[in-house]
Amino acid sequence: MTARTVRIAPSLLSADFGKLAEQLAMLEAAGADWLHVDVMDGQFVPNLTFGAKVIETCKRLTKLPLDVHLMVEQPEQYFDSFVQAGAATLTIHVETAPHLHRQVMRIKELGVMAGVTMNPSTPLETVREVAAEIDLLLIMSVNPGFGGQRFIPSSVAKIQRARQLLDGVGSRAVLEVDGGIARDTITACWQARADTFVAGNAIFSAADPAAEVRALRGLCQAHA
Ligand code: DX5
Ligand code: ZN
Repeated sequence: MTARTVRIAPSLLSADFGKLAEQLAMLEAAGADWLHVDVMDGQFVPNLTFGAKVIETCKRLTKLPLDVHLMVEQPEQYFDSFVQAGAATLTIHVETAPHLHRQVMRIKELGVMAGVTMNPSTPLETVREVAAEIDLLLIMSVNPGFGGQRFIPSSVAKIQRARQLLDGVGSRAVLEVDGGIARDTITACWQARADTFVAGNAIFSAADPAAEVRALRGLCQAHA
């Protein structure tokens, strides 16, 4: 049997912006796989974060693929500029995309990975019709808007159902989980067959963030 992929994606939201270059270099050296970039517009979610300028800055500072999570109304407004700034994935919320199929196809046309996600209270069913088209499915395990929130336990069963949905359409899309991922929650998500783990608070508030990246990966590998 081939080993399953584990990807650890530290979330920029929790980084220390006063020493961003240093922190990104440290994460890269620690073997982080992606850098998760949370774009919030203060409308879809009650918080405001980054735009193209910050994505561009990260692109200059790190080789890590930039995993861009769009928590914004009308996400299509930002596709072109964010791809130009260096995004490797663009993940949109079903709640903001009534024409989900069109937006997924547009992201693919731009040559980056097309991701979809939904709030914890939104049924997984909302992505069924595009499941065969997407490159990434993100399960939100907190209500989006802030780092450092508690993992919602019912997310584990949702991850399991998400994997079944992807398998059912023959998709090899990335199955990512975002929110409250730490040493005490990652194993259950991995066992539910998620492969990519966003972690903000757990990594950046650790005394040794590099060791935390390795520890999170190690917990998955230990339960292969
Ligand atoms: C929440 C964001 C997350 C956040 C995760 O709205 O989408 O990516 O940064 O942070 P932690 O790991 O601290 O829950
Ligand atoms: Zn996120």
